[in-house]
Amino acid sequence: MARQAKTYFIHTFGCQSNKSDSERIAGDYEARGYAEAKDWRVCDELVVNTCAIRQSAEDRAKGFLHNVVTFFDEQNIPRPKIILTGCMTHHGHGKIYEMLPAVDEILPINEVGFNQAAVRKDSITRGGKKHAWIPISAGCNSFCTYCIVPYSRGREQSRSLESILTEVERLVGEGYQEITLLGQNVNSWGLEKLGIGFRKLMMEREDFNREDLPDNQTQYLQPNGTPPFVKLLQALSSFPQIEKIRFLTSNPWDFHDELVEEIGRNKKIDRFIHLPVQSGSNSVLYRMNRGYTRETYLDLVTKLKAVDPLITIGTDIIVGFPDETDEEFQATVELAKTVDWKVGFVAMYSPRPGTASWRIYPDNIPHTIKKQRWEVLDQIINKDNLQVRPKIV
Ligand code: SAH
Ligand code: SF4
Ligand code: F3S
Repeated sequence: MARQAKTYFIHTFGCQSNKSDSERIAGDYEARGYAEAKDWRVCDELVVNTCAIRQSAEDRAKGFLHNVVTFFDEQNIPRPKIILTGCMTHHGHGKIYEMLPAVDEILPINEVGFNQAAVRKDSITRGGKKHAWIPISAGCNSFCTYCIVPYSRGREQSRSLESILTEVERLVGEGYQEITLLGQNVNSWGLEKLGIGFRKLMMEREDFNREDLPDNQTQYLQPNGTPPFVKLLQALSSFPQIEKIRFLTSNPWDFHDELVEEIGRNKKIDRFIHLPVQSGSNSVLYRMNRGYTRETYLDLVTKLKAVDPLITIGTDIIVGFPDETDEEFQATVELAKTVDWKVGFVAMYSPRPGTASWRIYPDNIPHTIKKQRWEVLDQIINKDNLQVRPKIV
């Protein structure tokens, strides 16, 4: 009798980056001859792909592992091998084994990489098109003061153009028509070598002369100063089979004018743009180190609508950031009434150990106030727009 293949199961928490990583982890298992189990209760190896963006996300992973352990203990059968990966791995091996004793092994995110072939199991969109997530960068260099991602996923690293094109060529051959490019800040694709401070300086100075860049860096902005991400969009749009291109996520501070123009011109780019604002108050944006103001955000929205009035915009907002006053919150409420966001993922501030805001500011807005502020914004932004409202608190 043929020996049955060993099985794996992946339980994924968190954002699209994690979903995409899980597709590549599945690819690695299948390349090693494993088959996917129908359920975590019947697998040989269980991968738990975790999120650390808020305490509630970490608690969900802990709760899941608790259920797994309880299930196997009650049945009195041995558990599968449990492998922890994703953004909670930044806690380090020692702390994870102490916090989550059920974990047998840790898979650091950077070992997942870009190049393992992905197993795409749910790739058909509602429109019946074949759709693929394509990671174009890993990590983040923006260091928003509240955010764990630069620590959990490390410094920004762009995937090479060749590697992206090779994957898209293969997908096109398999009949894919839609792609979503993934990165924590897709606008900065190919620019990480310039350094964040330098790029901010460049964006802020109208008289900035790109010729002044040191030689080894000009290649990222030439020819004609077109940002690399715009060139990437152009290269991917040139595949006739690709009908739609989406991207997630864009930080408004380096949403170049060239990118706005490209979106206006290139109708393969989806008309929905996700543009997280986080707050409508300049003093809060400053404390968050977001690198833009309410005015520049509004300016960007105006520019996008001007290149194509059909463009719609979504956003993320954090309520209850340390020291957020009623006036500061009202500035966000007013912005929500001004900008016609189609969807808003509103989150209550959660201090993340190790981040700058956790170091500098006490988490001094009571939970009841955070919840009230969450309700107010959710009502304004989401009540008329969605049949299924986002439930991120
Ligand atoms: N790179 C993306 C965001 C990734 S995290 C961007 O910059 O837009 C997704 C969202 O989680 C963020 O936009 C923010 O609204 C929220 N978030 C991040 N850290 C948080 C924290 N410490 N507390 C509450 N919400 C947080
Ligand atoms: Fe976090 Fe800011 Fe990077 Fe987004 S841009 S992942 S919010 S540090
Ligand atoms: Fe995504 Fe959560 Fe990590 S939002 S980048 S899985 S911390």
